Order: sequence, then C-alpha cells, then structure tokens
Amino acid sequence: MTFVANLLAGKTAFVAGGTSGINLAIARGLATYGARVGVFSRNPERVAHATAELQAIRPDAAGFVGDVRDYASAEQALAAFHATAGPIDIVVSGAAGNFICPANQLSPNGFRTVVDIDLMGTFNVLRAAYPMLRRPGASLINISAPQSTEAFWGQAHVSAAKAGVDMLTKSLAVEWGREGIRVNGIVPGPIEGTEGVSRLAPTPEIREAWEKGNPMQRMGTGEEVANTALFLCSAAASYVNGTIIYCDGGQVLGGPRDYSESWHALQAAARTK
Ligand code: COA
Repeated sequence: MTFVANLLAGKTAFVAGGTSGINLAIARGLATYGARVGVFSRNPERVAHATAELQAIRPDAAGFVGDVRDYASAEQALAAFHATAGPIDIVVSGAAGNFICPANQLSPNGFRTVVDIDLMGTFNVLRAAYPMLRRPGASLINISAPQSTEAFWGQAHVSAAKAGVDMLTKSLAVEWGREGIRVNGIVPGPIEGTEGVSRLAPTPEIREAWEKGNPMQRMGTGEEVANTALFLCSAAASYVNGTIIYCDGGQVLGGPRDYSESWHALQAAARTK
C-alpha cells in the first residue's frame, strides 16, 4: 500500500484544464499518489476552487489562470510552476471546448475556436513545457476523444481538432523519445458528471441509449481515467510511447454487439424442430 501511495513521490505535474471534470480528477489522482500538482485554466473561480481542493490533498498544489490558446499565457504559467517546483515530470494537456453544431451551420470562427483550444492549445502547452521537462523521465499525456477516429453528427470541429491532437501525440513521441520524454494519449469514453456528457447527452433518454450502447452498460468515472493517466506517467509504463489508450469500457468497438438473445431464440427454434 505504501508503494502505491508513493507511486509519484517527488514528481511534479502540470495539468492544463485541470480545474474541472476529467482533468481535475486526473490532478486529484496525481496529487493523491504523491505528485506536486499545478493546474491551469481560464476561469479564475474554477482555478481557486480546484486549487483549494487539491491543497487539501497536498498543501503545495498551485493554480494558474490563463488560456491555452495564448502561447505566452501557457508559457508564463509553466514557468511559474517550474520556478517553484523544479523540472516538470508530468504534463497533462486536457483543456477542450465542445458544442454540438452541424458543419453547414457552423461559422469559421466557431470551427477555429475549438481547433484553437484543443489542438493549438495542446501544442502551446507541450511546446512551452519542453525546455522545462525532466529528461530523461518526463511523461506527457494528451486527452483526446472518440471523435478523433469516429465521425459524429455535429462534431466536425471536434473530430478535426482531436484527430490533430492524436497525430501531435505520435509526432512528439517520435521526436522527443530520444530525450527520455514519453508522449501518450488517452481517449476517455462517456464519463459521469462531466461538462462533455451534459452537453452531448442532455436528456435521460440519450444518456440511457449511450449506456446501453456501451459493452459495460455504464458510463465511466473520472477516477477511472485518472488511473489510466497514473499508469502512463508511472515507471510501469517506462517503454510506452506514442500510444493512445482507450478508457471507454469498449465503446470504440461499436456497442455491445450482443446477439445472444437472437442466438438463444435460434437454438430454441432448432430444438422444437
Ligand atoms: N453552436 C454554434 N457555434 C457556437 C456555439 C454553439 N453552441 N458556441 C459557440 N459558437 C461559436 C460562436 O458563435 C463564435 O463564432 P462567431 O464569432 O462566428 O459567432 C465562436 O464559436 C466562438 O464563441 P465564443 O463563445 O466567443 O468562444 P469562447 O472562447 O468564449 O468559448 C467555447 C469557447 C465556444 C468552446 C465554449 O463552449 C467553452 O468555453 N467551452 C469550454 C468548456 C467545454 O466546452 N467543455 C466541454 C469539453 S468536452
């Protein structure tokens, strides 16, 4: 048990977007397992709230207000964290924007806004962090989405952005691996209590259909995504680089593909012949 609690002892972790939802759950997980955590997001109230919550786990947790779309703002926050915490071992890039809108009604600025937050934001955070990373040993994690490989109605902007995020993950893994910096991605499935789920599954009917369409018949939790991140940034994943891990209950497989009822019916029919 002591070993697990000290999984990330002495490590520093910067979580962009770490003030709500999945990213806050990841920040909480990293702090719980021993990392000194800094979170970064746009909304000052959310930053204050998340920082206070994380400080209850580790008093040296820090919060930074800024926008991932602005390179200087990301660089400033990372530099402030680096100045007090030292070389950065873990960076999670999870800031994201989403709304449902079919492409033929989406303005160029709406498309650009999501690409700017998700894709440019990820580049800005990782590029700004690069000189401050521990080498060898740093682990960078980009939060992707099912939209990166699957097309959904009203999600062209998100798919374009997240597909770019996945290729950025792989490209940086290739370029930075030689310095002992690993870059991986996580695709969370539908996760309870997140803004993403409340935006994309606004009614109980849509939510239920989503749950039924998942092989595990339920949504995941932030803690389950955090555990995936813990694996990726621990020594247990020391040779895992350029991979996108799905933490989605098997959602990407296209639903439960459960033909058992028709199979049983066929068997029963065969027996009566
Ligand atoms: N449908 C269509 N277009 C939309 C939209 C919607 N629901 N919401 C915003 N847009 C468009 C705006 O109309 C604007 O384009 P325009 O100038 O051509 O009119 C553009 O997107 C930028 O909108 P704005 O509200 O100025 O951007 P913002 O930077 O304040 O907010 C968003 C960014 C739009 C992504 C906002 O939803 C947000 O802050 N989201 C963060 C949280 C989040 O999405 N979490 C879920 C993650 S999965």
